[in-house]
Amino acid sequence: MDWKLEGSAQKTESHVLQRLEDRGEDSISESFQLLQIDVECETWEGKTLPTGSATWCSKNVQRKQRHWEKIVAAKKSKRKQEKERRKANRAENPGICSQHSKRFLRALTKERLLEAKHSGPRLCIDLSMTQRMSKKELSRLAGQIRRLYGSNRKADRPFWICLTGFTMDGPLYKECLRMNDGFSSYLLDIAEEDCFSLFRLETLVYLTPDSEHALEDVDLNKVYILGGLVDENIQKKVTFQKAQEHSVQTARLPIQEYMVRCQNRRNYHSEILAINQVFDILSAYFETHNWPEALKKGVSSGKGYVLQNSVE
Ligand SMILES: C[S@@+](CC[C@H](N)C(=O)[O-])C[C@H]1O[C@@H](n2cnc3c(N)ncnc32)[C@H](O)[C@@H]1O
Repeated sequence: MDWKLEGSAQKTESHVLQRLEDRGEDSISESFQLLQIDVECETWEGKTLPTGSATWCSKNVQRKQRHWEKIVAAKKSKRKQEKERRKANRAENPGICSQHSKRFLRALTKERLLEAKHSGPRLCIDLSMTQRMSKKELSRLAGQIRRLYGSNRKADRPFWICLTGFTMDGPLYKECLRMNDGFSSYLLDIAEEDCFSLFRLETLVYLTPDSEHALEDVDLNKVYILGGLVDENIQKKVTFQKAQEHSVQTARLPIQEYMVRCQNRRNYHSEILAINQVFDILSAYFETHNWPEALKKGVSSGKGYVLQNSVE
């Protein structure tokens, strides 16, 4: 072991504490030995005390060591209680995921996402329209991508996501790296090509609020496209026209079919949602096959719509 201490006894303790946390319970006694050895080499007012003359510091050190032992013992017993509590919980509720360790849940998420790559529903976010957006809008789009990805990670049946028309030297990529922790290790595909050249056109369904067709179902043979666009000054029909140029099928969320306008102070009603909200609805629908339930989840009251049956 190459661990050698310099500086005050306090620093020594915190180093040992850190070591203990890093190394776990098994090395506690070993670390005590380390503490003892290093204390003997401790300095006082810049002078090294010879091992034999440690009587001055021994009382102080012994007091600190007793205190330290108490802390370690308390931590150990707390960990033991925690472990027993988790074990009891697992035995009582064998099916509940929240009782699993973080490591297990991370592995489960990864497995589900990779499975989605082979057999899950597919979703593209068309990021080829960044030149239409201001810096502020790009930042908001980066935030929406983060939220969308976060929702997908939590889903029992996630989608496989592909960010298309996404250039790594573009401003949106830089914004995603800046704003979204761990962005470079997101489990999804990134492609510089646009969605129209990556997939067969007949498999594509461009989701756009301006479509005449209401989406009826989520089909595993289709690739759904969301327009990566934040347009504070609404740019009407941008994605609809893009889809038409490539003769690609379009669909809107079935808001009109299951929801009605509700009165609000601003008399504001909008069916245009952010990509993460559209995704939450798609994902909820894919899990429940229930449009009202899914729409309720994603259409906030601020949009001026409520479910039909919630109006007297
Ligand atoms: C903020 S909207 C952009 C609206 C933009 N004016 C356009 O032409 O698409 C971002 C994207 O979310 C999706 N979206 C938003 N509301 C939708 C709705 N009601 N139905 C289907 N897709 C929707 C579309 O893919 C849309 O491109």
